[in-house]
Amino acid sequence: MVVLVGFMGAGKSTVGAALSAKLGWPFEDLDERIQASEQRSIERIFRESGESVFRQLEHAALRSALEAPGTSAKVLALGGGAFAQENNAALLDQAGVATIFLDAPIEELFRRCQEQQLDRPLRRDLEEFRRLYENRRPCYLKAAVRIETAGKSVEEVVAEAMARLASLGVKE
Ligand code: S3P
Repeated sequence: MVVLVGFMGAGKSTVGAALSAKLGWPFEDLDERIQASEQRSIERIFRESGESVFRQLEHAALRSALEAPGTSAKVLALGGGAFAQENNAALLDQAGVATIFLDAPIEELFRRCQEQQLDRPLRRDLEEFRRLYENRRPCYLKAAVRIETAGKSVEEVVAEAMARLASLGVKE
């Protein structure tokens, strides 16, 4: 399994889908798993139940994604906060999966989120966004691979990911 981590706007879902096509592996987005099992949107979960409930659901979803059949050949994109939670990082470590941190400058991440117009409860003003990113960055840096995405096309990021995965011994 290959797991994509990084902040909001890093391109985890876009790159994840393209990387899975390249590898010929199925793609899964952890936020989608949470929304499907809860039958409500991430925005609604935050609004109705709060962030700590969301984090519990996120952890349970990660556990079930790792236990699902066919896990060895799968690309999984996490939500921006998932890898910054110690229990999730520990679970991924135990599972021995390859982790890739997609990075970009904060202004670029903020701008991409603005363009996507997705409802992201934790994206408010730039200063708060920056603070959250800086708090989480040391966690993201624990991923096996870091790829800078600014100024690169999705294809270029995927090509870089493939090369880095090959050097980790992950094969198609
Ligand atoms: C979050 C990021 C979101 C989603 C939730 C919380 C975060 O995922 O999981 O809104 O804590 O950074 P994306 O990174 O896909 O936006």
